[in-house]
Amino acid sequence: MQAPAKKVRRPLIGARAPTGEMTSARKIYVKSFGCQMNVYDSERMTELMGAEGFAETASLEEADVILLNTCHIREKAAEKVYSDLGRIREVKSARSSLGKSTLVAVAGCVAQAEGAEMARRAPVVDVVVGPQSYHRLAELVGRAGPGRQIVETGFPEEDKFTVLPQRAPAKAVTAFLTVQEGCDKFCTFCVVPYTRGAEYSRPVRDIEAEARRLAEHGVREVTLLGQNVNAYHGVGPDGRPWSLADLIARLATIAGIERIRYTTSHPRDMSDDLIAAHRDVGKLMPYLHLPFQAGSDRVLAAMNRRHTAADYLDLIARIRTARPDLALSTDVIVGFPGETEADFGETLALIERVGFAQAYSFKYSPRPGTAGAGLVDQVPEEAKIERLHRLQALLDRQQTRFNSACIGKVMPVLFERRGRHPGQLVGRSPYLQAVHAPADSALLGRVADVAIVAAGANSLAGKVYVGETVPA
Ligand code: SAH
Ligand code: SF4
Ligand code: F3S
Repeated sequence: MQAPAKKVRRPLIGARAPTGEMTSARKIYVKSFGCQMNVYDSERMTELMGAEGFAETASLEEADVILLNTCHIREKAAEKVYSDLGRIREVKSARSSLGKSTLVAVAGCVAQAEGAEMARRAPVVDVVVGPQSYHRLAELVGRAGPGRQIVETGFPEEDKFTVLPQRAPAKAVTAFLTVQEGCDKFCTFCVVPYTRGAEYSRPVRDIEAEARRLAEHGVREVTLLGQNVNAYHGVGPDGRPWSLADLIARLATIAGIERIRYTTSHPRDMSDDLIAAHRDVGKLMPYLHLPFQAGSDRVLAAMNRRHTAADYLDLIARIRTARPDLALSTDVIVGFPGETEADFGETLALIERVGFAQAYSFKYSPRPGTAGAGLVDQVPEEAKIERLHRLQALLDRQQTRFNSACIGKVMPVLFERRGRHPGQLVGRSPYLQAVHAPADSALLGRVADVAIVAAGANSLAGKVYVGETVPA
């Protein structure tokens, strides 16, 4: 591997390190679209700019730098960025009439996919930076300015993770941690292999160091992220490639980290050792997000998923043998080109057979540059809408059934934050359900047993259980 290039520490125009005077700190507004990895990337960029003296603000009008971290996965997601840029143009010109300059940076997958085209289409944008170059954000912001748009969408030789500053003190009890990025699978509907590039796994040592640092700052749960997280094969401390199961076992030894999750997995990479980890590693939560996309083998083949419906069912059976209480979540697409009513029926049938605790469902959205977009037998919009309704009705029923079945059970809940009502805390069950309970704020950041007394479509309510593990 190439030695990482030295971090460029060019001072930003007008930026000052924090002096303690609140008024002198310049401000950055950050908005994330898309997946958890974009949330993670936004945190890293905010930390990076924080090291340059920029304080985060929730107000667009106050921001000296505006950063949009964008998503290209479906047309709607990409279009949202342009509507935001319209509003930002107004803010920028209002600030300019007050003599204040504003730098607008667009990062993420739309930036990667559109590059110079985005700079042309939206002249308000000063910096366009792709997901593999964002460690250079401070330098790019420093170089850009009126009449100097900068587009940086290369795949640089240095590893951004080693160039980025160390994690700043965490603000929450839970944290995302990217361990793998990119995808070599090329599902025919998906832009990710183009926007995130080829599969890359971070070395175990770096991930472990980041997890330890998070734990020192009070993080109790880490969610390991990757577009194909279970294809993880980072180099281990012994110089050999480690699997995701190996990595999880290692992270489970860190004091303070009490819960480990990972997302998103591909059925093809659900290896035996990872399935066994769900049986053997107590800190690994019994919840798995495993997209199957479609129930018809013909559609799955056209999607280039490289698994059949039967393969998926067989896999689920093996996972449930290892960990019978494991809750499943998935992603489903309706209306992929050529999908017939009978094909769609097979999607519903697969869902009936598996039983999901949660799911995300989408209408197929043709994406530029993907093989699916060029297929001639696109499904009419009305059929997609109608199928999506039927699909979501079934998924909602399953989610409600899963939540209702929790009433009367006692579950360990990691309390993450205060609830909306005084004296209430909100946490997560092992199955990722939000759980509300009246509880002492001393329980924030701790796992406590909670007796579930009520269930809604999206959350549970309970009472802290005065049993062996939690003192009254
Ligand atoms: N890395 C994840 C996918 C991330 S995208 C994985 O491999 O599963 C999240 C979900 O968006 C996908 O699982 C898919 O269901 C959906 N999706 C991706 N491209 C889409 C498209 N063109 N139209 C509709 N949904 C899409
Ligand atoms: Fe996209 Fe398929 Fe890769 Fe997931 S596995 S990121 S859906 S190409
Ligand atoms: Fe969107 Fe890129 Fe994530 S397209 S879903 S932000 S990998």
